Amino acid sequence: MDRNLAIELVRVSEFAALAASKHIGRGNEKAADQAAVDAMRKCLNSLTISGTVVIGEGERDEAPMLYIGEQVGSGGPKVDIALDPLEGTTITAKGGENAMAVIALAQEGGFLNAPDVYMRKISTNTDDVSVVSLDQDLKFNIIELAKFNKVNVEDLVICILDRERHNNEIEIIRSTGARIKMINDGDVSAVISSVVTNSNIDMYYGIGGAPEGVLAAAALQCIGGTIEGQLLFNNDDEIKRAKQTGIQNLDKIYKLNDLAQGDIMFSATGVTDGTMLKGVKITKNYAETHSIIMRSTTGTIRHINGEHNFNIKKLEI
Ligand code: FBP
Repeated sequence: MDRNLAIELVRVSEFAALAASKHIGRGNEKAADQAAVDAMRKCLNSLTISGTVVIGEGERDEAPMLYIGEQVGSGGPKVDIALDPLEGTTITAKGGENAMAVIALAQEGGFLNAPDVYMRKISTNTDDVSVVSLDQDLKFNIIELAKFNKVNVEDLVICILDRERHNNEIEIIRSTGARIKMINDGDVSAVISSVVTNSNIDMYYGIGGAPEGVLAAAALQCIGGTIEGQLLFNNDDEIKRAKQTGIQNLDKIYKLNDLAQGDIMFSATGVTDGTMLKGVKITKNYAETHSIIMRSTTGTIRHINGEHNFNIKKLEI
């Protein structure tokens, strides 16, 4: 892929983040999401690509825009696209932390065509895939990670979504002595935090969205670290949808390269302040954005601070 595409991509996440930011704290998740989707789609269609959305807003019948399979772009090289115009709709509606607009590109076939179901995930800051795995039980993973990091188990911080479905896992983590960071939403950001050394999270564990698992894997292909994911199905309909996307082995544990691989470009722009990104800040004359763009082939990571000298109400590209 043309390396300049990575720079182009930042405009797409910036535009979505700017649009969503108008809805921070207004209690309207749908409006925030819709604004981000509209903006991202508009900007995406100005890119010189022939893109196919493989991780998007949902199946065609439930998502009028950026649905799985939608063709976007104004023509150019064929790419697959994974996106979440607003990762953290509830966060945005409540004015919380770590909401962001995210998009990743890969060559055709570079992303797992994951259906919109749940995924059990584990991630940590090592490329040694034998240290933690969904094949091993949670307690064992924590003990192995402490040994690998040469710290006491009590020193580790495990991040998990604060959900009733995790009550048992939270008990297990506490029984090992490890500490916990519970988050209300936003596990793409949490997975990324678990693989960077300057964060206070050593491991991410738990059940979140499968599309978010693929997006997080796209980021990890650029910055390192390891992630595994296993799809979870609540009913026959979800199983049917998975089979339609070509998934045969329903119990498969997906490794990093199964989730995202090859030439990947990733861009995220903060909507609200977070561990990785600053949120949109609107001043009298312009709107400020903070984005991170990364490429897997070179490992380049760029932090881009944008000052958008336009009337945010108009949101012209
Ligand atoms: P949305 O932005 O779509 O609301 O997703 C937020 C999120 O917290 C994800 O980060 C996470 O993977 C998923 O929701 C968890 O799902 P649930 O809220 O159903 O537990």
